[in-house]
Amino acid sequence: MAKFLVQKSGPLNGEVVISGSKNAVLPIMAATLLTEEKSIIKDVPALRDVDVMCDLLKSLGAEVNKKLDENTVEVVPSGELKFEAPFDLVKMMRASILVLGALLLRTGRALIHLPGGCAIGERPIELHLKGLKALGAEIDPAQLDKGIVDAKAGKLKGSTIYLDFPSVGATEVIIMAACRAEGTTILENAAQEPEIVDLANFLNKMGAKIKGAGTDTVKIEGVEKLHGVEHHVIPDRIEAGTFMVSAAITRGRILVKNMLPDHLKAVIAKLRECGVVVEVTDEGVIVDGSVNKIVSTDVKTLPYPGFPTDMQSPFMALLTVADGPSIVIETVFENRFMHVAEFNRMGANIKTEGKAAIIPGGKQLKGAPVVATDLRAGAAVVLAGLVAEGTTEVSQIYHIDRGYENFVEKLKNLGANILRIDD
Ligand code: EPZ
Repeated sequence: MAKFLVQKSGPLNGEVVISGSKNAVLPIMAATLLTEEKSIIKDVPALRDVDVMCDLLKSLGAEVNKKLDENTVEVVPSGELKFEAPFDLVKMMRASILVLGALLLRTGRALIHLPGGCAIGERPIELHLKGLKALGAEIDPAQLDKGIVDAKAGKLKGSTIYLDFPSVGATEVIIMAACRAEGTTILENAAQEPEIVDLANFLNKMGAKIKGAGTDTVKIEGVEKLHGVEHHVIPDRIEAGTFMVSAAITRGRILVKNMLPDHLKAVIAKLRECGVVVEVTDEGVIVDGSVNKIVSTDVKTLPYPGFPTDMQSPFMALLTVADGPSIVIETVFENRFMHVAEFNRMGANIKTEGKAAIIPGGKQLKGAPVVATDLRAGAAVVLAGLVAEGTTEVSQIYHIDRGYENFVEKLKNLGANILRIDD
């Protein structure tokens, strides 16, 4: 299995350019199915999950041209589409469920075998299904008992839908299905993530009529037809946050280019509480961990605009070495502390109790063999390895390849001592 060898590195310095957002491009690629015309998506990150989504669209019958050297993907979903998503692709990426709404609307049916839970949680989709049923879809209960979503629908009709939890995926699936439903849909307690705003911008360019994306109430007026468009994906705020932490934890100073600081207000606020200097300039965001002593702070993850759950493990890496104790509370996923065992193997001495992790801080970490338990936790243990004495060997790095484009090259350019060992 491929792995990373990370050595203790000096302060990271220099510039890093952030890639397009994984969690924006995946729903946008699914939304291309809402028209038969060609869409061209730019600033697409070269990631394993993007490859899987390309394969999924192809398996449904769309023509997909991936020019990832130019970070561009063209999709031509013309003609008859299949309605079944192949399990071998769905099990590789649970975000495959994002085609559910568009596929149902386009073909009148959608059949997707559910992959079930993963390291960070059970990942249910009852809210996605609640929304589609409200729009008039029928979900076969017998199939659902077997872990298969088998949805059928004639003409979808607008409705008012309340989400019990502001689920990102459910918000995206429902918005896509409602775009060409008859009448108006009001989605209440919707997720407000920037990736949802980017999806709505893409759909509105296609001719949809969506208002309120990025707030907790989204209004969608159904339209007859949508057109193919060209769209630039927003930068990846979690990749940006990860590199900001890399400067903080190594006491370095980096310029993060192609990021939108407004998408990371909570993370920037927490970095500043830790003594990190964060300066927004026309060139990009300067993150300087060399000015002040890095001190601890407490973190609680929440749906956007709260502190993002995807930044919980990278930020925890910083807290293991920050001066003073801290508490991290994970409220979004039920099992997103798998990285704690890995940090503890490096000497972090973290204790967890339910949703809370207590980090004593002030540690001199020691290199150890560790595992990437999910894609963000994988990045987090790499960050810890940059300041740990000796060598940190990170395995299961395919998780990291899912969400970070050119991760090793970008870190090396900043002075990190990291090596990828392929089989
Ligand atoms: C998206 O996942 C992201 N993935 C995740 O990023 C991110 O962590 C998550 O949103 C939260 O921000 C993509 O965008 C591809 P949710 P999603 O539905 O849509 C519960 C990464 O690292 N829930 O908002 O699956 C669910 O169990 C990935 O890039 C229900 O209970 O997240 C979870 O506890 C990891 N019922 C919470 O909501 C439902 O019907 C958040 O899930 C749906 C969700």
